[in-house]
Amino acid sequence: MNSFKPIGVFDSGIGGLTVVRALRERLPKEDIIYFGDTARVPYGNKSQTTIERFSLENARFLIEHQVKMIVIACNSSSAFALQSLRASFRLPILGVIEAGAKRAIQTTENRKIGVIGTHATISSRAYETVLEKLDSRVRVFSQSCPLFVPLVEEHWLYDEVTFEIAKRYLSSLRKNDIDTLILGCTHYPLLGDVISRVMGDGVRLVDSATSMAIEIEKVLREQGLETNRSRERSQARYFVSDDPDKFVELAEKFLGEKIEQLEKAYV
Ligand code: DGL
Repeated sequence: MNSFKPIGVFDSGIGGLTVVRALRERLPKEDIIYFGDTARVPYGNKSQTTIERFSLENARFLIEHQVKMIVIACNSSSAFALQSLRASFRLPILGVIEAGAKRAIQTTENRKIGVIGTHATISSRAYETVLEKLDSRVRVFSQSCPLFVPLVEEHWLYDEVTFEIAKRYLSSLRKNDIDTLILGCTHYPLLGDVISRVMGDGVRLVDSATSMAIEIEKVLREQGLETNRSRERSQARYFVSDDPDKFVELAEKFLGEKIEQLEKAYV
């Protein structure tokens, strides 16, 4: 029965655990297999060809583990590799960009939307493409914020240095009168407080992790893939491609719960 199979989630590293966290809150009965490509992170400053190749390898790893669906938690992979993954495999494959864009369209009132992400995500213009397809009257303003990823990995979430960097990155968006800002990177939800402080109360933040969980639930239901197991709590297995011990502590911060076992995987 396909519905009993786990949902496969991959990311360039452990930032995608923000998606798993939202997924476990919303769909607590679903089993999950997570793969974080910690040996090759970051993807955000790599080329499309490289990101596509890595993403195909990650997807194959999950398919070998008999997943019923693949969730690309990484914005940079979703931006550059979603189409080639969909062309290569037959199971449902969801990327974070579509989910975040849909939520932003539902959220905005003045149709001025900001997007922040890695160099890869912003240069791909993937958010613009989806947003403009959903509503041609929307105006999109983008900004890459490459230093946000290392700041989160250092856990400088409320630091003054982070606040100053955020002010510098976000100053142009502040002038554009946006009322909605898409956090287009796995790591950015953890900087939500600092980003809100800089952007002010009038700007609503769209966190792609939560939007993704809502979209996954919808697709599982539409395709008859929701698990109907009666047990309360699902199983989650976590794999990384570099030494797992280095990542447990940070991974638990992203996930918001203890990780029993972080396993090493080779792709
Ligand atoms: N996971 C990446 C993303 O969401 C951020 C980290 C990286 O650059 O690999 O774009």
